[in-house]
Amino acid sequence: MAILVTGGAGYIGSVTVEHLCSLGESVVVLDNLSRGHREALAPSIPFYHGNVGDAALLDRIVREHAIDSCIHFAAFAYVGESVEHPELYFENNVIQGLAFLAGLFQTGVRRIVFSSSCVTYGEPETVPIKEDSLQWPTSPYGWSKLLFERALASYETAHALKFVSLRYFNAAGATRTRGEHHDPETHLIPSILQAAAGLRPEIRVFGNTYSTPDGTAIRDYIHVSDLAEAHSAALQHLRHGGASQFLNLGTGQGYSVMEVIDCARRVTGKPIPAIIEPPRPGDPSRLIADASKAEKLLGWKPRHSDLETIVRDAWEWQTRSPQGYTPK
Ligand SMILES: NC(=O)c1ccc[n+]([C@@H]2O[C@H](COP(=O)([O-])OP(=O)(O)OC[C@H]3O[C@@H](n4cnc5c(N)ncnc54)[C@H](O)[C@@H]3O)[C@@H](O)[C@H]2O)c1
Repeated sequence: MAILVTGGAGYIGSVTVEHLCSLGESVVVLDNLSRGHREALAPSIPFYHGNVGDAALLDRIVREHAIDSCIHFAAFAYVGESVEHPELYFENNVIQGLAFLAGLFQTGVRRIVFSSSCVTYGEPETVPIKEDSLQWPTSPYGWSKLLFERALASYETAHALKFVSLRYFNAAGATRTRGEHHDPETHLIPSILQAAAGLRPEIRVFGNTYSTPDGTAIRDYIHVSDLAEAHSAALQHLRHGGASQFLNLGTGQGYSVMEVIDCARRVTGKPIPAIIEPPRPGDPSRLIADASKAEKLLGWKPRHSDLETIVRDAWEWQTRSPQGYTPK
């Protein structure tokens, strides 16, 4: 049986594909390459270039491969962009996403692992955040993810679809062959490392008056390899008849922006100039996971996610591939 991975040419998707293949799984990728890279996938992996909302294409993929389950990464994923262009996020993540879900159901695939996000919680009332915390996003991106979660729950009630919705906190780090390549890059760790490599003049710190010890926003960073392992564990959970779940994926440890910059200065040995900018709309002050439910249910634990390891792995990727993926 094969796993359909949407958005598999993107950052987390390509690392998960690499991991699934290392476990001997058959994987098929659907990606429109709007934000991903064909070079992030081994040439041997069956690849379909198209939109997730294309029902005819989805039908063809399921007919051409024995698809038994799906991991749905495909989405736009920038908080700031979603605040400026909500229409992009509702069109791509919700309208395309719901068309995909309906198409998947039509083709008979009944198991789905979904890339949700901690941004569905908005500004949390308490940290660490548990899965039953109030979800009230502060950005259209967050709403687009929450709407898809609600659709999954409705399909489960009506049609017995089984899902695991993984609410990742901040993905970071790299493997020996795959890493983060976004254009523009807005994620903190690769942006800091681009500054360390001289590819941008400085790192811009958005806000230093949050209610945190040093005033900069606090996030829970999770290594992309740990995320990949959680996806295979979530698939196994569903294949063994496990119940649908919403699960946080993080470490339970938060770092402020300034702490991450200091860590990157130590790892790279570079001074990394930082300038303070106003906070970005839609950015909560502190997001830290309580991931004990995922640990208990999936038997999963982050193994690579201490901050030094994350930054060192990302720096090695940055050093090896300064321009990211380059077409062959
Ligand atoms: N990066 C993070 O820290 C983070 C945190 C929480 C959740 N997520 C979620 O994880 C998923 C992957 O994130 P990422 O950082 O790897 O993003 P990414 O942009 O690197 O990958 C997304 C991939 O989806 C593809 N895609 C987008 N819209 C598509 C469509 N309509 N049809 C087909 N392909 C499409 C893109 O081309 C890209 O390859 C996203 O759903 C994101 O919302 C990411």
